Amino acid sequence: MAKHDLDPNYLDPDYEPIVNHSGNRVFHDVLATRMQRRTLMKGGVGAALASIMGVGLAGCGSDSNRGGGTGTTDPGADADSATELGFDAVAVSSANTVVVPEGYSAKAFLPWGTPITGSYPAFRADASNSGADQEQQVGMHHDGMHFFPIDFKAGGSCSDEGLLVMNHEYINQSALHPDGPTYNQSGMRPADEVRKEVAAHGVSVVHIKQDNAGNWDIVFGSPFNRRVTGNTEMDIRGPIRGYQKLSTRFSKNGTQTRGTLNNCSMGPTPWGTYLAAEENWHGYFANGSQTQPREQTRHGVGSATRYDWELADGGDDHYVRFNITPTAGNPADDYRNEANTYGYMVEIDPFTPESKPQKRTALGRFGHEGVIFAPVEEGKPIVCYSGDDSRFEYIYKFVSSRPYYAATASGYLLDDGTLYVARFNEDGSGDWLPLSLDDSAFAASVEAAQGALVGKVQFEGFENQADVLLNTRLAADIAGATPMDRPEWGAVDPNTGEVYFTLTNNSQRTDEQVNAANPNAENRTGHIIRWSEDDTDFAATGFQWDIFVFAGTQGTETVVDGEVAVSLTDDNIFNSPDGLWFDYNGRLWIQTDGSDAPPYQNNMMLAANPVTRDIRRFFVGPQGCEVTGVVTTPDVKTMFVNIQHPAKDWPFGNEGDHPRDATVIVTRDDMGVIGA
Ligand code: FEO
Ligand code: CA
Ligand code: CA
Repeated sequence: MAKHDLDPNYLDPDYEPIVNHSGNRVFHDVLATRMQRRTLMKGGVGAALASIMGVGLAGCGSDSNRGGGTGTTDPGADADSATELGFDAVAVSSANTVVVPEGYSAKAFLPWGTPITGSYPAFRADASNSGADQEQQVGMHHDGMHFFPIDFKAGGSCSDEGLLVMNHEYINQSALHPDGPTYNQSGMRPADEVRKEVAAHGVSVVHIKQDNAGNWDIVFGSPFNRRVTGNTEMDIRGPIRGYQKLSTRFSKNGTQTRGTLNNCSMGPTPWGTYLAAEENWHGYFANGSQTQPREQTRHGVGSATRYDWELADGGDDHYVRFNITPTAGNPADDYRNEANTYGYMVEIDPFTPESKPQKRTALGRFGHEGVIFAPVEEGKPIVCYSGDDSRFEYIYKFVSSRPYYAATASGYLLDDGTLYVARFNEDGSGDWLPLSLDDSAFAASVEAAQGALVGKVQFEGFENQADVLLNTRLAADIAGATPMDRPEWGAVDPNTGEVYFTLTNNSQRTDEQVNAANPNAENRTGHIIRWSEDDTDFAATGFQWDIFVFAGTQGTETVVDGEVAVSLTDDNIFNSPDGLWFDYNGRLWIQTDGSDAPPYQNNMMLAANPVTRDIRRFFVGPQGCEVTGVVTTPDVKTMFVNIQHPAKDWPFGNEGDHPRDATVIVTRDDMGVIGA
């Protein structure tokens, strides 16, 4: 998101990134280990990915061989050639338009306000649509996104029809209403404005189809078209379900809540559902008391909310709940615990429109950026990774207790398991530290911390495992995790099984706070880290890591084993990597959310060959935006890229237009494989 990225020091013209990384002597050992592992893991992971995507199975009547193209959709193909980049890099750009390489086309699709369900209320250019209209239209501030082939459940890999599911992270209040947010004489907000703002958050499920001419459109009237908003009823699942600290007036037994908010990135599950991440949820709640519980202080809940929804005129319970100041004698009679029902990964089943979203608490409660699943294997646990995007926060891994079997897999696998947090050691090794009271080492750390000051929290123990997970950040502090430079998206290389994470930036890290995995003080441009799990086992408790690339200006070097592996040029300077995705061939896509001052100009997306570290700028967004959310059809011939918070009249450029977040469809003019 943009708000927490704003850094007044960023534009300092004297700033130069620290690029001397030769002190990273650990890289020799790390690289040797990884090269061995790459050979070992190649076949197994590719085959597992094919089973997730249904790649190679019969399609849906899709003419997926339309046109030429030089790429391959076979994930088992030779990684060294399948991941080569076949386009010429585009230059940086400050234009108010999308830039793609020669031979490619880009077109805006599904802008904010597009009607997708119900009575399909038309978008009004003056932003005068009501709250009820917005509940039937695409939300604002598009972010993480996934394309589910329409025949997914049948094991298919349809590339011309599917469900495009996307997050709407937050809103631009000025653009959402004709004259921005308003207040009445008593300082209250019109209830319908608040209703519209809540409805512009959440998730859209859109059934889309490509015609024979290659154009995509919404399937109007499809039962799959759906909005999930900040008011949709949801179940709490997993270890925190029913815990007394989740009791509210709405759900006295702590098993339900309403809404999901600040949905940043996401993760598709191997069984065809979508997990939306709740990132900066703390900003939506206000606690006016003198003291706050640790469940709030460790997340920065304040005494005022970002959009003043709790001030909605009329006292509607849907909006009163954002004021979490205790008002009653008992928690079941007010909303003091409402914020404890946020901070989770939320499972939405796009193929079952009537299904209730499920908050999966076993994956922890923090500022979830997103989640990435490791490839699955029959009879093995489910493994997924999630970053906590805030300065000095952590990277987590969940390993299910129950094994995965394709025939029966569903969200229940996410309700029982072990949540680990990462410690990156100076020697290039790493450890996954279990946050479980059943683990003797963690239990001993908890015991030792009793009565001590942990950060700013006077630690007084955990009541039970639900309390541990409710306070995941605090548990990770106690376990001794490595504080990172704002972990954003993760991605797993389908050819090697290596796990990549963006570390977007951290201008606040001091010289005393650097560590091997976050080696730059005042890290304003970010880097991308990666690791291989020990013994080629995603459930392993140890790993080997290195840094894939340091972002920055021309000449920024990433040094591996004493050799310069990457030196950035005009073709690939970038800053603040955020979105990250491996396509089905194994090309890595890197999106940025950082400074749009020179030399970087507008935010962008680059492609990387993970084998050679060849990185090229593929896409530049319009002015003022961040580029976030990327996915392709299984044949990798249609790419969807989201543009969030464009600054001006993008995408249509008509006089007086409000800016409209939108998805951009990128295709090759010869209908070939994107990036090849
Ligand atoms: Fe919503 Fe961390 O970006
Ligand atoms: Ca970001
Ligand atoms: Ca992000």
